Amino acid sequence: MTMLQWGILRPHHVLALVLCVSATEDFDWTKNERTSFYYGTFPTGFSWGVGSSAYQTEGAWNVDGKGISIWDAFSHKKGKIFLNDTADSSCEGYHKFKDDIALMKDMKLNHYRFSISWPRILPTGLKSEKINEKGIKYYSDLINMLLDNKITPIVTLYHWDLPQVLHEKYGGWHNISMVNYFNDFANLCFERFGNRVKYWITFNNPWSIAVEGYETGEHAPGLKLKGTGAYKAAHHIIKAHAKVWHTYDMQWRSKQKGLVGISLTADWGEPVDISNQRDIEAAERYIQFYLGWFATPLFHGDYPQVMKDYIGRKSGQQGLGASRLPVFSPQEKSYIKGTCDFLGLGHFTTRYVTLKNYPSGAGDNYFSDRDLAELVDPQWPDPGSEWLYSVPWGFRRLLNFVKTQYGNPMIYVTENGVSEKMLCTDLCDDWRMKYFKDYINEMLKAIKDGVNVKGYTAWSLLDSFEWDEGFSERFGLYYVDFRSKNKPRYPKASVHYYKRIISSNGFPNQREVESWKRKAVETCSSSNQLLAAAHAQHNVTTMLNILVDPLIGHMEMVTEIVVPTVCTLCILISAVFFMFLLRRRL
Ligand code: NOJ
Repeated sequence: MTMLQWGILRPHHVLALVLCVSATEDFDWTKNERTSFYYGTFPTGFSWGVGSSAYQTEGAWNVDGKGISIWDAFSHKKGKIFLNDTADSSCEGYHKFKDDIALMKDMKLNHYRFSISWPRILPTGLKSEKINEKGIKYYSDLINMLLDNKITPIVTLYHWDLPQVLHEKYGGWHNISMVNYFNDFANLCFERFGNRVKYWITFNNPWSIAVEGYETGEHAPGLKLKGTGAYKAAHHIIKAHAKVWHTYDMQWRSKQKGLVGISLTADWGEPVDISNQRDIEAAERYIQFYLGWFATPLFHGDYPQVMKDYIGRKSGQQGLGASRLPVFSPQEKSYIKGTCDFLGLGHFTTRYVTLKNYPSGAGDNYFSDRDLAELVDPQWPDPGSEWLYSVPWGFRRLLNFVKTQYGNPMIYVTENGVSEKMLCTDLCDDWRMKYFKDYINEMLKAIKDGVNVKGYTAWSLLDSFEWDEGFSERFGLYYVDFRSKNKPRYPKASVHYYKRIISSNGFPNQREVESWKRKAVETCSSSNQLLAAAHAQHNVTTMLNILVDPLIGHMEMVTEIVVPTVCTLCILISAVFFMFLLRRRL
């Protein structure tokens, strides 16, 4: 079933589906409206985890031989990141990974998804130039400790932190040479860690790498190559992914018995009017330009037809001799097809979509190529990031879309979560508990629909550096006090809530589930007090620093001001005292 058909799902279709899918016996399809809640549990062995990424959390940006990444360079330029924040120290995860594993152990997690910083182990990006053994040791220790605690590592090879040298010398993902350099890096990781790591993710969210890194320039490396940048970068990323999959398949799979996948992030796109064919097609384009751009080559060998048609036609209208969307040769198509042992899926939000024509002209770009407009319902909760509306039912639709479009692949949800604004220090995050409850419930319904979801990763373990938004958006289950040097972690209520979901492997029954929120809020109020005390202490220290430091640093200046002030005070007090005596005598 295509998304087109999903868009016009009617009760009688639903009924037909019930008859077809025997796995859904215990699931009441007649209550399939968007807001219903399904009580039930996940299949045995379902894997629960949390995620993070190297640049967002590790800090230690220039420690122990680490090279510089494009994100180090980008964030050090003024005006690129909100408040000019950098992740130089961030959560200090590099130094605190043991503490973080203790948090995971306490949550009884089955897996932890983290990423390897390429320049931490290959400072110039090239294996032939230098391997940083200290960096290797860091990841090795992390992996060992996870395994000692029965937590399965799911390792991302590229979560956006390209070695800066590769960008400066070759133009990063714009250059085809990245395919081989990335393959060398991946091969080194398989060699050093593959005896212990069985789940590999080549790229995290290549859509974002391509569009925000090479088209809009909001992300590192900050290139604004409208209309071509994203397509070219994506083309090389897809080839790099396929090459790494083949390397694993040929050299390591038989020994290490692991799996290699990719993590694609996509919103769901719902037609504004489900009876309007043009809206239905616009919504189909939305998702094909998002998820299909990467998933279709990996599962079917080529770009989605609708992308080829639209970008080809618009390129022609611009007077270009060839499409701005690059072309795979027949050999490349068969090399790329089938290179996904599992699909990692990141999902946060949904959009309504309608047709909007963008006449071809000078301003052609990825967004206008799609000929659509995105809308949101103002009623949708929107607690944190501007783009993130809570729309749980979109998750189930997206999961079903993956099932029907790509032959029901094995799916690990690699990212799902919600943020709050920086200034919010309330650890009783009821909006996040609700988000997790409802999104996880939609995932459960999707599993009942027959979607092959094997695991779920809450995004994220800690508040961390949220890319161009700096530290202004907090996605963590744990609050991190970034103002304190030691970066202490405080559990939000959602930690307790997520723990309940994990220990029950789902949502056992209404009475129990309804008690979880109350209990979670009870436990978070003591953390709230601790945090408030830490903030108060921090404020006093800051005040003292402000007072003491300048006093020492500018003693002369302060003396000049203080001495007359003290004198004046003395004179005043003496005057008052003198008046007082005088009045008593009279
Ligand atoms: C997807 C990215 O992979 C992750 O790094 C980021 O924190 C989340 N989206 C939230 O924006």
